[in-house]
Parts: sequence; C-alpha cells; structure tokens
Amino acid sequence: MPDSPEYKPRYRIYQNFRLPMGFPVESFESALHYPAQQDDIFVVTYPKCGTTWTQHILWTLQHNGEPLPLGQDINRAIPHLEEVGAEFVQQLALPRFIKTHFPYQLTPHHSRAKYIYIVRNPFDCVVSFYYHTQGFVKHYDFAEGTFDQFFECFMAGEVDGGDYFDHLLSWYPHRNKPNILCLTYEQMKANPEWAVIKIARFLGPVYLEKVQDPQILERILMHTSFARMSQNQSRWSSQRPANMAPFIRKGEVGDWKNHFSAKQIQRLGEKFYATTAGTEIPAEWQNILP
Ligand code: PPS
Repeated sequence: MPDSPEYKPRYRIYQNFRLPMGFPVESFESALHYPAQQDDIFVVTYPKCGTTWTQHILWTLQHNGEPLPLGQDINRAIPHLEEVGAEFVQQLALPRFIKTHFPYQLTPHHSRAKYIYIVRNPFDCVVSFYYHTQGFVKHYDFAEGTFDQFFECFMAGEVDGGDYFDHLLSWYPHRNKPNILCLTYEQMKANPEWAVIKIARFLGPVYLEKVQDPQILERILMHTSFARMSQNQSRWSSQRPANMAPFIRKGEVGDWKNHFSAKQIQRLGEKFYATTAGTEIPAEWQNILP
C-alpha cells in the first residue's frame, strides 16, 4: 500500500540486478559482453550523477557547439549500453560514445578506450533518484511513493544501479588511470567551463582545438547549461506525467537539505563516512556534506 513504510518501487529482477521494468533482460545480458573498442568513449555514472549533462557536453563537442536538435534523442546518439544492448551499440559509427551505469568490474574494458567517470554526493543523488523513480511510472510503478520510502531502498542498495557505495568504491580507486577522467558533479556546477575544457583535453587534440575557439566554447556552455537543457526535454528521456518533476529537475548542489530528516542526515552520513574511511572520497565533498 502506498502509505505503508514498506511500499517500494517495482523492478525487473535479473540475477542480482534490479532493472527498470521497461529494460529488456536480453539487452542487459548482451551489454555485459559488449566488446569495448580502442576508440570507445564511455560516460560512466551511478544514476542521477550528471550523465545526461555529460552526454550533451559530448554531443556539443562533436558538433562544434550545436545542441542536440529537437526531435532527436540523446540516448540514440550516445546510447545506454544496458538498456539497448551490445548489438545496437555495435551499429554506431566509430568513435562510439556510450553511457553506462555499470560498476567497474562489469564495464566492458579496453586499455585504450576512454572512460569519463562522473560522481555526485550521495545526499543529492538520492533526492534526484527519488524524483526519477517516482516520475517514470511505467518503469517503477512508484507514482505515490514518498522520499522516506525511497530513502530506505537507496540505503539498502535495492534500486536500479545497485548500491551507490559499491559503485563508488568500484570506480574511484581507478580514477587516476590515464584512460579515466573523474569529475564530480559539484566541480562541474562550480566551473562548467573548466569541466568542458578538461573533457575536451582528455578526449584529445581534435576536441581541445574546438574549445580553443571562443565561439564554440561559448555555444557549448550555453547549450549545456541547466537553463537550456531544461527546454525541450523530450531530447533526454521518455515522457513523464505532467504532475511529476521534470527529468532535468533542479540541478542544484544541496537540495538534499530540503528533503532529509535529521535522522536521515545522521544515517546516510554515518554510512558515507564508514564506507569511505581511509579513502580520499570525503575530501571531494568536504564543504558540502554534513
Ligand atoms: S540519469 O537518469 O541517470 O541519466 O540521470 P543523470 O543525467 O545522471 O542525472 C540527472 C540530474 O542531473 C541534473 N542535470 C543538470 N544539472 C546541472 N546542469 C545541467 N546542464 C544538467 N543536466 C541535468 C538533473 O537536473 C538531475 O538532477 P536533479 O538534482 O534531479 O535536478
């Protein structure tokens, strides 16, 4: 029942994974066996950590600062591997840009492929993930779910994408490898120009040259801004009911303060500091988290 504390989103369970109900199991299975190519560029995230923003930065970089046109779908140009499966991705022209939420050990690996890995603090992540799950009714059947109910699922790692901390601890130790670029959502928010140039430099001279043209750089920053990406949102996701928060929702650091109870702050805080003890992860968000 929606008003029971046990009310949960529904998922398709496959092996130990929870998939949104619209995701074919065959695609997920084939994604695990996608043979990564040396020119592949992966956008790697736990859900709700800045994936779509980064996908659009890549699109605009490829297209000299032009935005994804109305009527097109970013997830066809830069597909979500687990959603569409390996065969779809293999049809793309090279170099391929590919989105994945896989943890490190499941992500298709090639020593010369590039991986852009974006992390976001778990407090804002769970809030964003709640609105995502509530609004994609066909995928999760959780339209009447509350933040408190979703928070429990997130804490238990019982959401699609798996456990936030497992994902973080799988990728983070690899972040300084030459073919991995790790940025935080919060760094991107604080200085989008720096982030775009960093991504372009990581991708190589062809891309770096583009952002050295001030007009192209300005167009990229304009079209990938929150304000612009809030327009024509059918480019980023399937439709959500009009009474739900939009997919490009708020785009802020610290919106968790509007959602968490004192007890929830304590519980996620304890989990965060215990799980990341001995790593440099707490320093990533030292001025942001409680
Ligand atoms: S998904 O479903 O996993 O692909 O979601 P993802 O794209 O990773 O995350 C969605 C959140 O990113 C915010 N967003 C942005 N923030 C700032 N600037 C830009 N341009 C931008 N584009 C997307 C989006 O609003 C979601 O965060 P919340 O906190 O819910 O607003």
